[in-house]
Amino acid sequence: MTMDAKALQQRLRDLPSLAGPLPPFDPATAPGDPDTLFAEWLDAAIAAGVLEPHAMTLSTVDPIGRPSARVLILKNLRAGVWQFASGSGSRKGKELAGTPRAALTFHWPVLGRQVRVRGAVTTAAAQDSAADYLGRSPGARAAALLGLQSEVLVDDAERAAAVLEAVERVTRDPALVAPEWTLFGVEADEVEFWQGDEARQHVRLRYTRRDDTWSRDRL
Ligand SMILES: Cc1cc2nc3c(=O)[nH]c(=O)nc-3n(C[C@H](O)[C@H](O)[C@H](O)COP(=O)(O)O)c2cc1C
Repeated sequence: MTMDAKALQQRLRDLPSLAGPLPPFDPATAPGDPDTLFAEWLDAAIAAGVLEPHAMTLSTVDPIGRPSARVLILKNLRAGVWQFASGSGSRKGKELAGTPRAALTFHWPVLGRQVRVRGAVTTAAAQDSAADYLGRSPGARAAALLGLQSEVLVDDAERAAAVLEAVERVTRDPALVAPEWTLFGVEADEVEFWQGDEARQHVRLRYTRRDDTWSRDRL
């Protein structure tokens, strides 16, 4: 049976969006820097029961400007730097090596909120990447040790054997660090806080950084 595109279109149309009730957001009371507001909004998302509120979409581009995006976990936000960790040999790792710029997008549906971040990408010192790696579960360390995150999977049995061997290695040597594992940081030069409104009077506040000073604009 082929998919009925018309029925699908109707199903999509029938799904509610920004149905609310949604919280208010008064940009006049917003703090002077986006890190503080993000921490406040994250707390609100946690309190509202948003699942995985630290999950965000990371967008990168390849050498000819083709974008790609995937979901990652935010590891930390410190002094305007939004950290995430991944393998340097993955698609995102290669794309970031070629074009060290990225966008991050958080979406918290229950609150009708999104946060959008743009900036240059840097890599952390080796010891910080290692500390992030060692803080992961043995299974996650084993998977990263294989370093095959974005490679084509040819043989399930071969992969299962390789994972088993990697698990044994990280168990045997708890200080072992995957050389590819990298802690990246987006040095934000733009952060937008977007509060949806049931009546579509959405409230948008954009922080823009020049040197070390943030300015704010309503959009
Ligand atoms: C909720 C969630 C959290 C994820 N967290 C990470 C992460 O922190 N690091 C990571 O490398 N991949 C993470 N992934 C997997 C990525 O989405 C992606 O599949 C993988 O990194 C390969 O991406 P790439 O081929 O574009 O490089 C996560 C996926 C989901 C759904």
